[in-house]
Amino acid sequence: MTALHFFLFTLFTVSVHAHNITEILNQFPEYSVFNSYLSQTKLADEINSRETITVLALPNGAMSAVVDKHPLSVIKNVLSLHVLLDYFDGTKLHKISDGTTTSTTLYQTTGNAHGNVGSVNITDLKGGKVGFGSAIPNSPLASTYTKSVKQIQYNISVLEVSAPIIALGVKHLLHYLSNLEFSRRIKLLLRRV
Ligand SMILES: *[C@@H]1O[C@H](CO)[C@@H](O)[C@H](O)[C@H]1NC(C)=O
Ligand SMILES: *[C@@H]1O[C@H](CO)[C@@H](O)[C@H](O)[C@H]1NC(C)=O
Ligand SMILES: *[C@@H]1O[C@H](CO)[C@@H](O)[C@H](O)[C@H]1NC(C)=O
Repeated sequence: MTALHFFLFTLFTVSVHAHNITEILNQFPEYSVFNSYLSQTKLADEINSRETITVLALPNGAMSAVVDKHPLSVIKNVLSLHVLLDYFDGTKLHKISDGTTTSTTLYQTTGNAHGNVGSVNITDLKGGKVGFGSAIPNSPLASTYTKSVKQIQYNISVLEVSAPIIALGVKHLLHYLSNLEFSRRIKLLLRRV
């Protein structure tokens, strides 16, 4: 999708209010950490303002890798990769034509995403599993579809996935930020001596 397409897409989808992701996830304590961070990062508002959306929910145990020592801005980038701008339920996941596709995510709309950093690869794996990974070529499909959580047909689908989807670009950003933090601390130390 081009920037113009995205702009038009946003225009047509803003101001629709058919669902409340916070309320949906409140019924499932196993996603309470994910839910809390959707609110803290304001991604919940963006999810609520859109139609035809799929949220890949991470169980509390899988959230620690996302949250650990990362600033909220980075957590937001990572989580925005878990919001697909298309509707997938369990049935559709298993009926992907040719067994593999890509979907754009909310991360694509932030302006930070270049190339296919903002998209995810969805692949019907052998043995009935569906794998998710970054759409950057040769990325691992390290996250798998575990179960369906909630569907409001064709408006919002919430699916559970096993592990966070990490894009290389986002990972580099993590390193960059931790380096920044490191040099900031060194400077503070030097100032004191
Ligand atoms: C889906 O969203 C549309 C547009 O807001 C709304 O009219 C429709 O009632 C919603 N469907 C459900 C099942 O909530
Ligand atoms: C969504 O639900 C939460 C929890 O019930 C509530 O605090 C929030 O105000 C709701 N958001 C909207 C936009 O209605
Ligand atoms: C998704 O990833 C797999 C494994 O890397 C790859 O074979 C497939 O071509 C990718 N699908 C798309 C649509 O890019």
